[in-house]
Amino acid sequence: MVKNLKYVILGGGVAAGNAAWEFVKQGLQLGELAIISKEAVPPYERTILSKSYLHPEFPNRLPKFYVNDPTRRETLLPEWYSEKGIELILSTEIVKADLAAKSLTSAGGETISYQILLIATGSAVIRLSDFGDAKNIFYFREVDDAHKLYEAIKAKKNGKAVVVGGGYIGIELSARLSDNNLDVTMVYPEPWCMHGLFTSDIAAFYEGYLAKKGVNIMKRTIVVGFTANSDGEVKEVKLKDGRVLEADFVVVGDGGRPQTALFKGQIEEEKGGIKTDGFLRTSVPNVYAIGDVATFPLKLCNEFRRVEHVEHARQSAAIAVQAIKAAEKGEIVQEYDYLPTFFSYPPEMFWYFCGDNVGDTVLFGDSSPESANPKFGSYWIKDGNVVGAFLLRASIEEVQAMSNLARVRPSVQNVDELAREGFSFARRILNL
Ligand code: FDA
Ligand code: NAD
Repeated sequence: MVKNLKYVILGGGVAAGNAAWEFVKQGLQLGELAIISKEAVPPYERTILSKSYLHPEFPNRLPKFYVNDPTRRETLLPEWYSEKGIELILSTEIVKADLAAKSLTSAGGETISYQILLIATGSAVIRLSDFGDAKNIFYFREVDDAHKLYEAIKAKKNGKAVVVGGGYIGIELSARLSDNNLDVTMVYPEPWCMHGLFTSDIAAFYEGYLAKKGVNIMKRTIVVGFTANSDGEVKEVKLKDGRVLEADFVVVGDGGRPQTALFKGQIEEEKGGIKTDGFLRTSVPNVYAIGDVATFPLKLCNEFRRVEHVEHARQSAAIAVQAIKAAEKGEIVQEYDYLPTFFSYPPEMFWYFCGDNVGDTVLFGDSSPESANPKFGSYWIKDGNVVGAFLLRASIEEVQAMSNLARVRPSVQNVDELAREGFSFARRILNL
């Protein structure tokens, strides 16, 4: 069977949902757009999976977290797509892309042709398959993965969980598993968690917080093997330093890899992703890349970056669709001007970062994990200017102020004074 479409979005994640919404906003005829996804459900807010999906008492479930429109007023339920004449081609993996012929081939042998393609294939987990496999080793990317883990948590009540990785998944899931009364051990090679973003001071707070929740942290070593019991279930986790951990199950959060394999040799790549210009256009005419898979010009820092975060997925999708629709009318839109924005839970210790984490750092506030009411932040200073900011438990107003500050990049005369002033510095500079 062959399908011909004007617009095709390959991938059914956060970027895809936001692109669909922007197409509708810009004006879409019935039957012009299809979304192809190997997942069985329409685009949903992936961020929920490592957070409220695993809540011990009130687990969040679809349809509550399908992708929201950017104003957060509307949840894009399955019927939204049918009402708008958007075809959802679900449970369908594309196994071949021929960009010259403008066609995609599914695992089931179906061919889908397009005039304009948006590549939104996101990232995939990195598997530790070299170290052996066993039942009850969980990777975490899609709603099915989250559900399998949820079932394992119920089946292994009060059991032992080993979490591999000290990044986003490692921290969020260690916190969630300990909320579910599991005995959790976290393993990662770096000297502190979230090593790519956190300073040692920020990490010390989060490690202290996790330790208070009962999480046992093993740093400066990696997982190198697993042993299984007679049912094929994981029983032990072997560490490079020779230690062996008992485990009823393992959750692996050892990083993501952009899904570019289908396009190898057909499209220009950069920094592991598909290279785009400021309109998310790739090196192939009529092909755009959005979300995790795109390496785009980050205007603020004057360099190409690939970003695996939800705000970029949302905003890059909107810009790409605006650029497509403007080009059809012979118009142009403003180039993408993304402000790097990262955040994470646990909810009571929500943190927010924006800007660039380069240069020297200044910590301010109360960062003791023992404190009843901790509140602290950090600034990053490069060439005498504040270029990035981090804040624990940031309010909506503080988030807005941080974003403005990271754009303004104010100069700093006295670093000691900045540490004393703390967040009041942002308020003073921005006249708030
Ligand atoms: P995304 O991964 O969302 O979607 C890609 C889609 O393409 C998937 O549906 C996939 O199945 C499909 N696909 C891929 N190849 C295909 C093929 N060949 N054929 C068909 N379909 C194919 N970020 C953040 O800023 N704050 C947060 O709190 C979190 N939390 C978080 C939790 C968890 C558990 C994860 C895994 C990730 C986050 N993130 C996050 C990251 C954020 O979710 C991520 O950056 C966006 O989902 C990226 O959106 P994309 O649409 O690019 O990829
Ligand atoms: P990550 O890159 O944040 O962390 C990977 C961690 O795994 C690092 O600590 C690394 O050293 C460690 N590691 C690698 N191999 C190891 C081994 N053999 N043994 C022990 N540790 C090992 O990646 P992640 O946490 O897996 O996240 C995956 C993706 O999901 C990323 O794109 C991330 O941005 C996204 N995500 C984001 C959020 C958020 O923004 N709040 C939340 C969850 C997931």
